[in-house]
Amino acid sequence: HHLLVLNGPNLNLLGLREPHLYGHTTLPELEAGLMTLAKTLGVNLSTFQSNHEGALVDRIQEARTDGTDFIILNAGAYTHTSVAIRDALAGVKIAFVEVHLSNVYKREEFRHHSYLSDLAVGVVAGLGPAGYEAAVRFAAQYELI
Ligand code: DQA
Repeated sequence: HHLLVLNGPNLNLLGLREPHLYGHTTLPELEAGLMTLAKTLGVNLSTFQSNHEGALVDRIQEARTDGTDFIILNAGAYTHTSVAIRDALAGVKIAFVEVHLSNVYKREEFRHHSYLSDLAVGVVAGLGPAGYEAAVRFAAQYELI
């Protein structure tokens, strides 16, 4: 298995940005924790974060040929706006789980719609960093399902 953890806009500010919503763990801490987990599960894991929609589309396209077989994606606000990221995911046909740190359903109405969810294997929201960990554990045994 080769997993790719993709984070979208403003998630580079994790731990600093709205900690009441997103917690105190920074993105480097989150990624390091996932790396350790992946090692114990015996899977490869790469990480990528960008604030730019096109850079996220490029990275998803690269995943088609770099051995990635599962994507764990928090597209941030692009979740609610981006047909381009949706099309990239549909185009590469790589299974993915959509993750949100916060419970988007108890927040503003505009966060209730996702352009990605109906393409995803599953969606995790509201569990904070533990949601990424659950997604990594799920992805590591995905082909057994
Ligand atoms: C988020 C939820 C989005 O609505 C928001 O725009 C984010 C983070 C989350 O992880 O809870 O940037 O994806």
